[in-house]
Amino acid sequence: MVYRKLTKGLGLLIVLGMLASPSIAVEDEVKGLMLIIEQQLDDPGARQQAMQAGRNRALLCSYCHGNDGNSVKPDVPNLAGQNPVYLLDQIGKFARGERKNFVMNSLAKNFTLDDKVNLAIYYADQTVQPRPQNKSLAARGQRIYTQRCMSCHGEQGHGSAEYARLAGQRPEYLHLTLERFRANERGEQQDGEDVRRSPIMESIAGRLSDENIEVVVAYLAGLE
Ligand code: HEC
Ligand code: HEC
Repeated sequence: MVYRKLTKGLGLLIVLGMLASPSIAVEDEVKGLMLIIEQQLDDPGARQQAMQAGRNRALLCSYCHGNDGNSVKPDVPNLAGQNPVYLLDQIGKFARGERKNFVMNSLAKNFTLDDKVNLAIYYADQTVQPRPQNKSLAARGQRIYTQRCMSCHGEQGHGSAEYARLAGQRPEYLHLTLERFRANERGEQQDGEDVRRSPIMESIAGRLSDENIEVVVAYLAGLE
């Protein structure tokens, strides 16, 4: 369905051409994905169909990410409430092997563009269930968040097309992910670990102490 709709707009055809090119700049890639998602969301009929198709497809994912995108396993991220463009971008990274996780790599490779768009739209529309943490740790975390994270991840941690939503994310996953970025920055060996590269996040996480991570996670996990 997405393909047929897209062929109607020459501008979007160019976008798809750009997506196929490996040399494309990251910002342009995100802009391209944004156009695809916006086109679906702007048309109420298309949106409805995408939600239905996404919900059906999500059966595969619910074992780990939960029926409504609230994860049922500590090291698995919530997808509920996440920005749809960010979700689509990450699924693309798993499909291309730029982000490594055995299950996610094999699942993402078999998705059509329709599947990816529908899943992203479905999960983005679900409501995340925050897990409030220790109040004094969270208050200390808020100070770090405001100084070092807010400029990209947003005032309330709700993220954007380019930057992940962090509000209400599972604490164990936040912890693990920040430690992985930090280990990359420090050149520590991560044999057999899921690999995720992000020059921006690696340099930021490289400057976080264990305590910084603990408190910022306590703040974010409880945020609505
Ligand atoms: C067996 C468990 C499992 C299943 C099933 C699974 N996932 Fe995942 N998924 C994971 C794990 C673990 C990660 C985190 C990988 C990492 O740490 O980088 C992840 C990460 C993701 C992310 C990135 C989220 C973020 O915050 O960056 C997306 C998007 C995603 N999965 C979508 C899906 C979709 C869509 C399906 C179903 C088609 C699915 N997953 C099925 C385990 C699973
Ligand atoms: C200059 C912009 C920028 C700042 C500042 C920033 N981040 Fe990020 N962050 C990013 C980008 C870009 C990504 C996505 C990387 C990718 O695509 O894999 C990201 C991803 C993340 C993720 C993974 C989210 C997920 O769902 O997998 C976490 C956790 C995170 N950032 C935490 C933080 C924390 C905590 C801080 C402050 C200490 C921070 N970030 C500051 C740009 C930023």
